[in-house]
Amino acid sequence: MEIKKAIIPIAGLGTRFLPLTKVLPKEFFPLVDKPLLHYIVEEAVNSGIKEIILVTKPGQNLSLDYFKKSIWWVRSRRKKKKEALEELEKLNQLVKKISFSQVFQKESLGDGQAVLMAKKLIKDEACAVLFCDDIVESKTPALEQLINVFQKYRTPVIALYALPKEKLSSYGIVDIKKMEKNLYEIKGISEKPSFESAPSNLAIVGKYIITPEVFHFLEKPSLAAGEIRLAGAFNQMIKRGKKIFGCQIEGKWLECGDKISYLKSNLYLMLKHPRFSPELKKFIKKEKIL
Ligand code: UTP
Repeated sequence: MEIKKAIIPIAGLGTRFLPLTKVLPKEFFPLVDKPLLHYIVEEAVNSGIKEIILVTKPGQNLSLDYFKKSIWWVRSRRKKKKEALEELEKLNQLVKKISFSQVFQKESLGDGQAVLMAKKLIKDEACAVLFCDDIVESKTPALEQLINVFQKYRTPVIALYALPKEKLSSYGIVDIKKMEKNLYEIKGISEKPSFESAPSNLAIVGKYIITPEVFHFLEKPSLAAGEIRLAGAFNQMIKRGKKIFGCQIEGKWLECGDKISYLKSNLYLMLKHPRFSPELKKFIKKEKIL
């Protein structure tokens, strides 16, 4: 069973980025020079995904516009814009490798409910779920790492990342039984536990492989604060004796879900970017910013 489809929910409220998210979904915020969504689509394509299902708010067509082939711009080619047009051409090439569809989530009733909206486009197959908040810089794409686990064990797989103790209370933290290097069976998920009660130091990153059974559990939700959450469905499944695996991702997690993490991730990538970093470093020195 191959993983061919990825659901990308982008219908959240983006509260942590207000007021900007009143008009622009955070998935379109740039990380250096590309929107977050662009990185996630690249990750999907590089992991062998052929079909992307975007879950958006009704009438939010930015995503399809962004990935539409841009003939007009390419035709108006001008020499000094060559570099920019090359970037556009790279995007066109990326889009050629994948098809997009869109479903709507009328109200932001939770990440699990958003995923459920895509169910009608998923047949009896496992698929990926990717959140744009979570970019991973790695040799092997993070999603491919999850797919490799799925191919072997055929269970849902959740991406995990080790964090220092003082950060655990801001994340979903997993209770685990170690299976092998970087692989765990998940025994439960605690949402934002206190530092003392955290069951491990492994946090959930927004990348998953889900099986058709996960949809079944999302349809009978135990609502947490009025929302249908993926974490809730996984906890229900574990209680019923279903196996869920966690894969500790190899790479660097670049969080983008709140303002300070987003700024740090930008800074990290900008100062490593072959094209921008020399100039930026000179600027920092000249202005004595650091
Ligand atoms: P988040 O937990 O980051 O929530 O959602 P959010 O609403 O986007 O942001 P905050 O917490 O209000 O600041 C994880 C992913 O699930 C999507 C989001 O767009 C994001 O990509 N999501 C969340 C939905 O599509 N619908 C929802 O109802 C909730």
